[in-house]
Amino acid sequence: MMSGRFITLEGGEGVGKSTQIGALSASLEARGVEVVATREPGGSAGAEAIRTLLMEGSDDRWDARSEALLFAAARADHVARTIRPALTRGAWVLCDRFVDSSRAYQGGGGGITDADILALHRFGSVGLLPDRTFLLTVSPVEAARRLTERGGSDRMGSKPADYQARLAARFVEIAEAEPARWRVVDADAPADRVTAAILAELELWLP
Ligand code: TMP
Repeated sequence: MMSGRFITLEGGEGVGKSTQIGALSASLEARGVEVVATREPGGSAGAEAIRTLLMEGSDDRWDARSEALLFAAARADHVARTIRPALTRGAWVLCDRFVDSSRAYQGGGGGITDADILALHRFGSVGLLPDRTFLLTVSPVEAARRLTERGGSDRMGSKPADYQARLAARFVEIAEAEPARWRVVDADAPADRVTAAILAELELWLP
């Protein structure tokens, strides 16, 4: 029986997900909630080891299917070792990316369908889905500015601008198909306003 809440943040590079996870953790902890802040790929020892395999090396280090399996394997370990135990003891899990990133990044091309990604997720992570997923959206100009400011990108992020635009569109498509789980948040706004907007959506679950 799970009693905690599982919240994920999604979106392209430079939308401010990690800043928001930090701010949300602080606010929730101040309300007396036990928070486990985590990220994907990673969040457990095994998943962090897989993260290194995924993030380092050249663009073509992995073919599309191997890459999808590695993300799913990292997620399976993260869910089994970190997320499910936290939810079971009543903690709130705030996660920077989850299966929806695989749906947007790996499921969008290379002959891999959304159904394929969801099938891997059913097997690897026993189909665990978040209670609420926030899609942080920024205008292309703002996204480019933040990425430059951050100083380049890793293997996964080093893709052309039209790729980032297609990705953003894919996230919106996924979100719109499942409105009960998703909330779309305008992340061009100042960070504290974004945090407030997310917290307002979580209010009904707070003690
Ligand atoms: P980040 O730590 O900056 O979010 O980087 C993670 C990168 O990995 C980012 O480019 C998105 C990518 N990614 C996928 O392609 N599939 C996934 O399932 C996840 C979790 C991340």
